Amino acid sequence: MSFFLTPVLIAIILILIGRIFKSEGPSKKTEDESKTKPEHQPWVDEDLKDNTELHQIEDEDELHESEENLEHVPFSSPRFPESEMIKRSQEFYELLNQRRSVRFISDEPVPRQVIDNVIKSAGTAPSGAHTEPWSFVVVQDAEIKHKIRMIIEDEEEINYKKRMGAKWVNDLKKLKTNWIKEYLDTAPYLILIFKKIYGVTSSGRKKTHYYNEISVSIACGILLAALQNAGLVTVTTTPLNCGPRLRTLLDRPANEKLLMLLPVGYPRKDATVPDLKRKPLEEIMVVV
Ligand SMILES: Cc1cc2nc3c(=O)[nH]c(=O)nc-3n(C[C@H](O)[C@H](O)[C@H](O)COP(=O)(O)O)c2cc1C
Repeated sequence: MSFFLTPVLIAIILILIGRIFKSEGPSKKTEDESKTKPEHQPWVDEDLKDNTELHQIEDEDELHESEENLEHVPFSSPRFPESEMIKRSQEFYELLNQRRSVRFISDEPVPRQVIDNVIKSAGTAPSGAHTEPWSFVVVQDAEIKHKIRMIIEDEEEINYKKRMGAKWVNDLKKLKTNWIKEYLDTAPYLILIFKKIYGVTSSGRKKTHYYNEISVSIACGILLAALQNAGLVTVTTTPLNCGPRLRTLLDRPANEKLLMLLPVGYPRKDATVPDLKRKPLEEIMVVV
């Protein structure tokens, strides 16, 4: 009996081993392929495809010096009774829930001090290793605004007609957007937010800016909230492949890459927005 079972067992084991290899084969190939062939992502700006985070460009001497000298001071912050906390958080939500991306912006002037304050607010954002890797370029000059519009419309027309493909154009249909961006002329301010992909130390050496894109994105979120709080509107835009031309126009250094452009002002009286709905709490929050 055992003489008969042994060859049968061996045959079964061989078949199983064969199956395992067969099933591993194609997935291995896919893994290899994914290494050599990166996914085609036309919506990722060429200028933003940097791998700064992966390279050690730290000036170690300066880091140690600044770490050693940093004094620690007592911390205190306002504390509210629970009922007040609930009220404040509810009111803050209601304020932010009124925020909409507005693409029809009036040319009515806005006090510069408000812009200074919202950018100061953005500058309070946390940043990887407190590198504060951001520059907020405020454009109020009509001629420069128009040059920015020309650059963006040029590239956006290519995005819509050639670069991005039918799926992207179709996904945007509901927003009724196209490559014509009148708000770039009419908005009293354009705020261009650049991420500094590395810093430059006092001795002129490169300094790593950890998580620079995450840090600047948080700052942008705070900026959007501050604009809403001030009663102004904007539309978050990420002008695709305009970075190098805009950087040159605005005379920004090579370590700065355009992350976002916000036209800022009051909404036009006839402004409309798409009737979008936001996901309810149950869909976006998981409590464990
Ligand atoms: C990263 C990012 C990029 C965006 N880019 C554009 C853009 O280039 N043009 C535009 O009109 N809207 C842009 N938007 C705005 C979105 O279309 C908008 O936030 C979304 O439709 C939700 O509408 P709401 O902002 O009114 O809630 C962008 C938003 C984000 C967060």
